[in-house]
Amino acid sequence: MSTDYDSELRLYNEILRRACGVQPRDHVLDIGCGTGQTTRDAARTARAGSAHGIDISAVAVERACELARAEGLNNVTFEHADARFHRFTQGHFDLAISRFGTMFFDEPVAAFANIRRALRRSGRLVMMVWQAREHNEWEVATHQAITGPEASMAVPSAGPDPFSLADPVTVKRILTEAGFVGITLTDVREPISYGPDVDRALDWVCGFTSTTEALKGLDPAAATRALERLREALSTHMSGDGVWFDSRAWCVTARQREEP
Ligand SMILES: C[S@@+](CC[C@H](N)C(=O)[O-])C[C@H]1O[C@@H](n2cnc3c(N)ncnc32)[C@H](O)[C@@H]1O
Repeated sequence: MSTDYDSELRLYNEILRRACGVQPRDHVLDIGCGTGQTTRDAARTARAGSAHGIDISAVAVERACELARAEGLNNVTFEHADARFHRFTQGHFDLAISRFGTMFFDEPVAAFANIRRALRRSGRLVMMVWQAREHNEWEVATHQAITGPEASMAVPSAGPDPFSLADPVTVKRILTEAGFVGITLTDVREPISYGPDVDRALDWVCGFTSTTEALKGLDPAAATRALERLREALSTHMSGDGVWFDSRAWCVTARQREEP
């Protein structure tokens, strides 16, 4: 098996699926759907309803369309769109879901308010977001390997911040200001897979933007040493069925506020 985001997160899927509780007639919106595994899952359950995935990446949306077509699903659609600005049909969706696709908004309150307006009155939001960087071994171990043992963990990786919704107080504030109520955060701890062996895990980690950016900043000799350390870190996490790292996430749920 090669590594991809779906196989990396496979232990999170069942938890998200249960939390979503998609019903046969539901209309489901998948935010930051990527290549659409969670959208297709929702569509299979919402047999008399639909699932609609949106993502800001045109490449991901194209792939999501191909995969849904290949499976012959006729109640799933995808759209290249930014969750912050997209003009959703207001009050249409029963459920908005996301598997790690909501941490990258520049203006989170405005983006979540836009998503909320797409929900029906009793509509729900269910999303998985990462807990703090220091609780996520996959980030700590690979970041330390690349930057070297003396580097501070306080220095975040370059690029969009996957930990922007790690703080429960911040999540509750953002969602409340966006008009959601009944906000809950459930602690989820599952290992994530970086691949069936060290070579494929190394390829996978070297494909991350944070890794390429960090390596770009090093001279060739330092980059070689960083890759050696990374390979070593991946090797120490190799078990009988591949390379695994601990991780912690929040499963966040909320509801659309009932208007008076
Ligand atoms: C970590 S990936 C998760 C993808 C997918 N949910 C999955 O689990 O396979 C985050 C996704 O969010 C998308 N994204 C980031 N900002 C977005 C925005 N403002 N609107 C829509 N999608 C966005 C990215 O393009 C990316 O596909």
